[in-house]
Amino acid sequence: MSSDINPSLYIEKVCLATDEVLPEEITPEQLLVTHYRDYHMVDTYARSLTGWLVRSTGDEEKARGIMRKIRQLGQSTSNIVARALGKDPENVSKALFGLKKRDFYFRFKRHPFDAAEIHDKIVKLKQEAKDKAKNHKIRILLTGGSGFVGKEILFQAAKIPEIAEVIVLIRPKTVRHKVTGEVLSHQSVEDRGAELLKELWLEGNTKFRFIDGDIEKPNMGIAQAELDKLGGIVTHVIHCAASVAFDDPYPDSFRANVEGSQNALKFSLALQQAKDSPFVAHVSVETSYIHGKQTRQLAREDEVVFPRNFYNNYYELTKAMASLETERFMLEHGLRVVQLCPAIVIGEGRTGNNRGDQKVVNAPVNAWGRARKVLKESQGDWVRRSQAEVLFRMARIFPGDPSAELNLIPVDWVARGIVSATLHPECVGERIHLATDNRITAAQMMKVIRRELRVQISLSEPTLNRNLHLPVITKVLTGLKQKKVANALGKLGSIFGGYSEWGQPVHQVGNDIDLLGLPLPRPNTELAFRMLCRHNKHVQDFGQVRDVLELSRREKLWTEFIDEIEAETGEPAASLHSKEFFRRFCAAFDRGTFTRLKPAVANKEPEPSGRNG
Ligand SMILES: NC(=O)c1ccc[n+]([C@@H]2O[C@H](COP(=O)([O-])OP(=O)(O)OC[C@H]3O[C@@H](n4cnc5c(N)ncnc54)[C@H](OP(=O)(O)O)[C@@H]3O)[C@@H](O)[C@H]2O)c1
Repeated sequence: MSSDINPSLYIEKVCLATDEVLPEEITPEQLLVTHYRDYHMVDTYARSLTGWLVRSTGDEEKARGIMRKIRQLGQSTSNIVARALGKDPENVSKALFGLKKRDFYFRFKRHPFDAAEIHDKIVKLKQEAKDKAKNHKIRILLTGGSGFVGKEILFQAAKIPEIAEVIVLIRPKTVRHKVTGEVLSHQSVEDRGAELLKELWLEGNTKFRFIDGDIEKPNMGIAQAELDKLGGIVTHVIHCAASVAFDDPYPDSFRANVEGSQNALKFSLALQQAKDSPFVAHVSVETSYIHGKQTRQLAREDEVVFPRNFYNNYYELTKAMASLETERFMLEHGLRVVQLCPAIVIGEGRTGNNRGDQKVVNAPVNAWGRARKVLKESQGDWVRRSQAEVLFRMARIFPGDPSAELNLIPVDWVARGIVSATLHPECVGERIHLATDNRITAAQMMKVIRRELRVQISLSEPTLNRNLHLPVITKVLTGLKQKKVANALGKLGSIFGGYSEWGQPVHQVGNDIDLLGLPLPRPNTELAFRMLCRHNKHVQDFGQVRDVLELSRREKLWTEFIDEIEAETGEPAASLHSKEFFRRFCAAFDRGTFTRLKPAVANKEPEPSGRNG
């Protein structure tokens, strides 16, 4: 592994017995949870048994205690066998029960500052930020403005009078044919910017300007003439660009997330150090999953510790490294930074609008919706129907423990938090979780999906799913010449398995209200997830509508429709029963063209033919 991306830049391996740092190479794979499981049949069954114990006792600590006793029993049995055979007890316990003793742990490298020094530095930086903020209107340089979160930041910034200008760093977009590499389309930065404003219903708004750049390049690839201009005007850098792919290889995640952050931080430091600079602060968008699978203690806002149960993927790992890098720039170079850590971001809480985002939770929801649609559309054709039936049955088996709690947070809350950070200089020096305090369980999500999409998901214990169900499903689908579907299901299962096991991290919240001034209560996750399902079904056709401008047209009408319902009922549209919501939707829209028929107010139309779907 080349030294510039080596994990040992941030992490050290430590001997459990002596607490000494071990001079061994750390490979990225060793930092993922996948490295430590499914290596022995007994381990696989033990994990699955622990899941069952958690479900039946409802007590994670008790389940862990029972498993500890079972492991001790395995250890003493191995010792007896080893003595009888005259073999090494460790080898015997490994061969018989897959019991491996881990005599090391990982930790993040410590910086040399003690708590008092850090406190003093942060007090000073906060004061500097407050002084700077007094004198200038807010002018933001934003990275990642074409992404899911970035678009919502632009949308909200448009309405905030204190924000005078947003300069959006964006790269030209070239789409190539997957096989031949032939250029299918090319969009310049200007074209992308114009389309973005149109998509956000902000055409002609002069607050926004788009500049060419790439976060993976020095100075973020910004041309010198532009750099000269920015130095005298930018008050805040919001660094939101990243690679959010959960299955990217380590070097790719590192380049985008760690080196991308370093480039953005260096850029901000240069702005801050320039003579007569108006620069106030660097706002870094991280994720609350920088805490990885930290399951035994609360994932705190004021510290990042290397998680006992490792990371789910290189995205989480490299975002944690980026967070440490941001902290280093603050402590070593005195850069005024704020770190914002969203949980799993979903569409807008009230409407489900997501501007075409297909990532994370949307992926399985859209896959189930599409599978059901294919099944419905194959009525009458016996062969197609049987095949669709098999696909549907396979797609419905998903890894998940019913008790697993997911931290979903609507994008409007996240963007509100990010934009608020530019209005509150006292946030400098802080790490703030943009997460929820009302997590949703996998069981609750499945109930919503059953009601909204008419799909009955069968949750399968994640360890058994990985080792048993998924390989069988993949084989059956490959046999049916459905390799693409098999791959997609395999990918979904392996990506989500880690987030739907019992013992998910609990992310501390509080700074969002205390420092950013966000209002209580935090968004209601179950209602927001309901709207995600309704939106993805009716507006996005489960990911089939891909033209961003068409989606924007639909989302505008959808928002008006939701506004009308809420004005009439005085309740969130999400609290309407799915049947009543669907009745109103059918009365208000031509579903074929997604155009309005009439306002959604208390029309007493007859029940639409067919059921919800
Ligand atoms: N989505 C979530 O659930 C979630 C949860 C927690 C935290 N976050 C954090 O929120 C931030 C935004 O996430 P998102 O969901 O909006 O991601 P997204 O939709 O994938 O957007 C990523 C953005 O980054 C830009 N980008 C990537 N590489 C770049 C490069 N080399 N140079 C310039 N721009 C580059 C993309 O530009 P192109 O359009 O040119 O590709 C795009 O604008 C990230 O920092 C992410 O870690 C997201």
